[in-house]
Amino acid sequence: MDLSLRGRTALVTGASKGIGRAVAEALAHEGVDVAITARSADPLARAAAEIEAATGQRILPQAGDMGVAADVERCVRDTLARFGKIDILVTCAGSSPGGLLEDLTEDQWSQSLNLKFLGYVRTVRAVVPHMVGAGGGSIVLVVGNDGLKPSFWEMTAGAANAADLNFASSIADQYGPKGIRVNTVNPGPVDTDRWDTLEKAFARDMGVDQSEARRRTEASIPFGRITHPKEVAALVAFLASDLAASVHGAHIPIDGAQRKALMER
Ligand SMILES: NC(=O)c1ccc[n+]([C@@H]2O[C@H](COP(=O)([O-])OP(=O)(O)OC[C@H]3O[C@@H](n4cnc5c(N)ncnc54)[C@H](OP(=O)(O)O)[C@@H]3O)[C@@H](O)[C@H]2O)c1
Repeated sequence: MDLSLRGRTALVTGASKGIGRAVAEALAHEGVDVAITARSADPLARAAAEIEAATGQRILPQAGDMGVAADVERCVRDTLARFGKIDILVTCAGSSPGGLLEDLTEDQWSQSLNLKFLGYVRTVRAVVPHMVGAGGGSIVLVVGNDGLKPSFWEMTAGAANAADLNFASSIADQYGPKGIRVNTVNPGPVDTDRWDTLEKAFARDMGVDQSEARRRTEASIPFGRITHPKEVAALVAFLASDLAASVHGAHIPIDGAQRKALMER
């Protein structure tokens, strides 16, 4: 399916690997020039070179920490300086720790909320004035199903994600009349390094090995498998495109109807 995205530009945060990288690849395959961010410059530059070679699009690596306002503003400024516009914003930079209430530290709570919630707010805040000036754009926040399906072992992510959903609904309401569509996608377990890290920690806290943690995860999903990053990327690319012109203010699950309770007991 041609998404008619050729000639557009995008900023994808948290995109040297995992879901963000898959999103950047999917958009570039549709003819989009993409700026990608991550903290570590070398893997980011490698990812940009690989996507550029595979797609022929301009891929701009922008090393920066989305937990730091000045870095977010610099990445947006430099993307605009290079591409002249940002038609599509996809926020993926997030890494909330799993854990039990009695084990989670003040710092872990702060880091989760600073990156996964405030990082998304900062990025949207920096990009929106340019989208308004250009007459519109599309914003997709990659959030997570625990924002709507709370789970005691994923509470730092769940709280940040619930805040993201509330924020996304608010900006959809405010900026829809200015031509900016805002949607969230809400994955369950996706096969990335982040999921591997979470699964190991989950196994540790539950006193089981990682293969048992995976078995419980798969048992919590009716299809019996976790999601591939490309599946999330396909949904994001569709939402970014004009084919989704009437999809606005939506919070779309992509979790195979995961039942949280089965994962944890
Ligand atoms: N995987 C899942 O099961 C799952 C489920 C639901 C929601 N999600 C959400 O999807 C998003 C992507 O997750 P993922 O699984 O793709 O993670 P991942 O494989 O660990 O990749 C994370 C990417 O974000 C970058 N990143 C991390 N912290 C950053 C920061 N402070 N500033 C800028 N970039 C940063 C990483 O590069 P550097 O380390 O070099 O910065 C990397 O490129 C996250 O928001 C996550 O909460 C994931």
